[in-house]
This record gives sequence, C-alpha cells and structure tokens, in this order.
Amino acid sequence: MEFIVTKDYKSMSTLAAERIVEQVRENPRSVLGLATGSTPEGLYAELVAAYRVGDVDFAGITTFNLDEYCGLSPDHSQSYHYFMREHLISHVNIDEARAFIPNEELVNDRPAWETYSARMDAAGGVDLQLLGIGQNGHIGFNEPDDNFSKGCHIVELTESTIQANSRLFDSVDEVPRRAYTMGIGDIMKARRVILVASGDSKAESVRDSFFGPVTPRIPASILQFHHNICVIVDEAAAKLCPVG
Ligand code: F6R
Repeated sequence: MEFIVTKDYKSMSTLAAERIVEQVRENPRSVLGLATGSTPEGLYAELVAAYRVGDVDFAGITTFNLDEYCGLSPDHSQSYHYFMREHLISHVNIDEARAFIPNEELVNDRPAWETYSARMDAAGGVDLQLLGIGQNGHIGFNEPDDNFSKGCHIVELTESTIQANSRLFDSVDEVPRRAYTMGIGDIMKARRVILVASGDSKAESVRDSFFGPVTPRIPASILQFHHNICVIVDEAAAKLCPVG
C-alpha cells in the first residue's frame, strides 16, 4: 500500500489528478472507475484544466461510476449523473456513450442491473478505480455490514451517511434512503485503486480503514488486501494515523 500524506486539499487533488492523467496517457483506452462527492471535486477541476491545455485526451476512455441515489432523476441537482456532467463529462471529450452510471432503468430490470458488473468485465475490467471514503468507512455506498458485498446492488443508506450527505440537500428529509452501488467485489477487481480523503472528519475512518483490522464493519479496510492501492490524504485526514 502506498500511503501519501499531502499538505492540504489542493496538493491531494493535484497528485491524484496527475496519477489519473498518467494512467490515461499510458493507456488511452483506460477504463476508469469514478467517484462523486466533495472530495474529488478539486481533482476533477484539475483533469478539466489538463484537458484544456492539451495534456490529456479522454476520447478513448470508458468510465463506470461507483454509485447513484435511488429515485433521483439524472437532472436532479444532487444526482450523481448531474454531478458528473457538472464536474467532468461536459467539460472534456469523454464519449457519453461509454460513461456508465447506475440508474433506475437498470434496477427495474434485475437481470440488466446485474449486468452493470458484467458490463465492467466486458469492458476489460477497471484499470483505475478512484474512491473517496465515508466517515463510517464506506466506499461507494457499501455501508458497514456483516459481510463484504460482491457485485452491484441496492443498499439502505445508514443514518450517519444520510446526515453527512444532507448538507447538500435543502433538508435531511430530501436525502434518498436507498442507493445503487458497485459491490466491494467489483472495487477489489480493479487493477489499480486511488483513494482520496481530506479533512478532520475523515481522520477516524482513514486510521481505522488502513491501520486497523480488516472487517466489513469498516468496508474500506478490505483495501488493505488490494495489491495496487495508493491512498492520498491531506494532513488533517491523516492526523490520527501512525505515520511520520
Ligand atoms: C460517492 C462515493 C462515496 C463518497 C463518500 C465521501 O460516489 O462513492 O463513497 O466517496 O461518501 O464523500 P465526500 O467526498 O463528499 O466526503
């Protein structure tokens, strides 16, 4: 495991964006697993800037987002479809036909939904999976549980996630209670993982995930078993970790 502590949010974002740009330059047909949330906003802005100055070309890539709320239309301002358009897809030359995000259509037809994982496999598997982390150690929307999940599925969000995400909605009652997510098995199949975390509110989950026992009660802890993971955290998120 590569565990990198950066001075601040900006340098965390820059480093993560550089790694993604390198990946796409090395393999212009890369399959990227993408995350939403506040943490990757800065790195997406850096990817857009790199594209604008001609440092990277996204025309050949395929993307699979980790997750989406159930019941929000793609045009809802808090949907992850909307987020991806706002922060990345509409600013760069990613082919929208190859930018996959879980959605209702896939879930209403269960066999089709199961093919979200199969579709990732058919695309050759994910070359680089970008992750954030929840305050309770969730990755994607895989919440603390008795078991690690395998493929894509629907989850009931925990109260702590609903509260954490309510900052982005007008009221806590508007936060959807369910979401679609890639499974832990899907995430672990990625050839390479980059996890980013910033701020004091992530300090406990970063310590517990990367320096504690591996347990489904802290879903990100399974990443300790990934063969190619880079954790990039700022000083605030690393403050409880036993690193120099
Ligand atoms: C979002 C996702 C979530 C977030 C996590 C942290 O696609 O997969 O696991 O990464 O909830 O969110 P932020 O970055 O908003 O703190």
